[in-house]
Amino acid sequence: MRLVILGPPGAGKGTQAASIVKEYQVPHISTGDIFRDNIKRGTDLGKKAKSYMDEGGLVPDELVNEIVIDRIKQDDCKDGFLLDGFPRTTNQAVVLDAALEAMKTKLDRAINIQVDTDLLVNRATGRRVCPECGETYHISNNPPKEAGICDHDGAKLIQRDDDKEETVAKRISVYESQTAPLIDYYKGQGLLLNVNGSQEIDQVFEDIKKGLGESRNQ
Ligand code: AP5
Ligand code: MG
Repeated sequence: MRLVILGPPGAGKGTQAASIVKEYQVPHISTGDIFRDNIKRGTDLGKKAKSYMDEGGLVPDELVNEIVIDRIKQDDCKDGFLLDGFPRTTNQAVVLDAALEAMKTKLDRAINIQVDTDLLVNRATGRRVCPECGETYHISNNPPKEAGICDHDGAKLIQRDDDKEETVAKRISVYESQTAPLIDYYKGQGLLLNVNGSQEIDQVFEDIKKGLGESRNQ
């Protein structure tokens, strides 16, 4: 199963990706997570990406494309993968298609998580993440058992640097102008799977499974 998951900031891509990769046993490749890991480790890539991310803009295509294309050529991706946060521009989508074609394969579906814009800011500003295991919570929608503490490893939860309200608003507008056109791009290829992401987390996942034709109830 070769999948991409699309949707605006705070739509629930990472949340659904965690369930999808468990269900379909494919690697989760999140470009946002790759950049945050590089920032944490102080790499050159991290230093370059940080300024764009802190402003709510996109990291330039030439820094992103090579990383993703190298990653999907690795052995653990030979039976599938889930790309989360990539592609984000038409150029990235075209580069991905060309790379897959060279590998004699193609995408199976593009899952598009649709969420009312007025929910997005609350979702992003209320998000808390575990710096150790990466688990994502929300202070009211999906809280940990003990406030501020990860259920899995007891680490203190943190807020992402780009989850300040004004940065989130910028990210949403960048999404509208640069990433939303990919919905038509994948529709044109017959790959689009629209899912209502304004529902409860578990219901969104049920709809994704159903859409992918693998619902347990079938
Ligand atoms: P990235 O990390 O990809 O961020 P994003 O696309 O802005 O998306 P988010 O991670 O904020 O949201 P999400 O959809 O994953 O939502 P989540 O599941 O966490 O990218 C960050 C930055 O890196 C970019 O701005 C850019 O600078 C750079 N970058 C990355 N990829 C790039 C690329 N390809 N090209 C160029 N630059 C790139 O959920 C959000 C919150 O809502 C959580 O608290 C969660 O618990 C809650 N929630 C989730 N689902 C529900 C639900 N159904 N109901 C209620 N609450 C919910
Ligand atoms: Mg995410």
